[in-house]
Amino acid sequence: MNYFKSLFSVCAVLALFSCSQQQRPETNVLDESLTFADQQFSNAMQITSDPNKIPRTLDKNRDLTTVGIYNWTSGFFAGNLWYMYKLTGEEKWKNEAVRWTEALDTIQYWSGNHDVGFMIGDSYGLGIRFDNRKQYEPVMVQTAESLCKRFNETTQCLESWNYRKAWDGKTEWFFPVIIDNMMNLELLFEASKISGNQRYYDVAVTHANTTMKNHYRPDYSCYHVVDYDEKTGEVKDKATCQGFTDESSWARGQAWGLYGYVLCYRYTKDAKYLDFAEKIASFILDNPRLPKDLVPYWDYNANMDGWNPEWKYNKADYPVIPRDASAAAITSSALFELATYVTDKGYREKATDMLMSLANNYKADPANNKYFILDHSVGSLPHSAEIDVPLVYADYYFLEAIDRYRNM
Ligand code: GLY
Repeated sequence: MNYFKSLFSVCAVLALFSCSQQQRPETNVLDESLTFADQQFSNAMQITSDPNKIPRTLDKNRDLTTVGIYNWTSGFFAGNLWYMYKLTGEEKWKNEAVRWTEALDTIQYWSGNHDVGFMIGDSYGLGIRFDNRKQYEPVMVQTAESLCKRFNETTQCLESWNYRKAWDGKTEWFFPVIIDNMMNLELLFEASKISGNQRYYDVAVTHANTTMKNHYRPDYSCYHVVDYDEKTGEVKDKATCQGFTDESSWARGQAWGLYGYVLCYRYTKDAKYLDFAEKIASFILDNPRLPKDLVPYWDYNANMDGWNPEWKYNKADYPVIPRDASAAAITSSALFELATYVTDKGYREKATDMLMSLANNYKADPANNKYFILDHSVGSLPHSAEIDVPLVYADYYFLEAIDRYRNM
């Protein structure tokens, strides 16, 4: 009997030991990423201490590029600082997060595009979540008011951009709605919770339903842009702005959609959103074009032969199809949340593998990138803009994914 008892104890100790051996590398790698982030973000703030000049990416000389508060990415740097505070507990990050957040104050009144959800939700929104800043709640509500001005009863959705032309400078869009817009719904749901105003919730749900109907193809991939006739609600165009072709699947767009429907389930508990999110997840995870390291090419359908001669960049500069680390970071974070609702389909493992792949192989090389955690993302290839560079929002979703990993 004693023999079996001892054997059992030895086995239990061995099992625990092997478990901690498996756990340790992941935890170590992610801890190292945070130490690295501390160094990189501190470097960035030495270049720009003015929160009206917000880090976004690097230019061709690998110098820091900043944007003003009206740029769609203006909230992410503050968000990164909030995540550093959450993940390290260090007060210095909170102080900086507050400073970079509050510089965005006037955005709450702005209804010039749909991106206010990113801008305010990822800055003020995190201040509420991580530091219980009740004084930020009215900002979320005012931003929801501004965003709802872009809702159209006839089209049954929120207009993303004002009238504009496509990347080719020819195709005209009058009421363009992009898949990215699903991300702004989080702010509407939060503002509805804060204020009790049902309209924000209803607008979010209506937009999600319209997008489900018009943006998605039978294989659960999505178009980037759907243009509507605002007088009749009719769909006039289905196209791309930042992807390979109109019919292709731009990787970040698939990630925005996945994240968007997971968050719709979070707030509504309507099973149709969960089911839809799982179908999008299958499109991504079962896609034969998803590389083994789980970091997608910038577009799932991209191929060198199909390179469009009208794109304004030198093909010789990019002899291989670029990856998009930002798409992987968004997807990993979304899968971590999906794994909390569906526990038995391996979403958590995939999310972890994706996160580890980013942490191990897509980290910035400080010799030529001193300000960001990750490298190798794509802004917009058809515009020849931000190809194979760091992007502030890739870091944001990477940090969010680390936080979600830790919470699992
Ligand atoms: N929302 C713009 C982008 O994903 O590039």
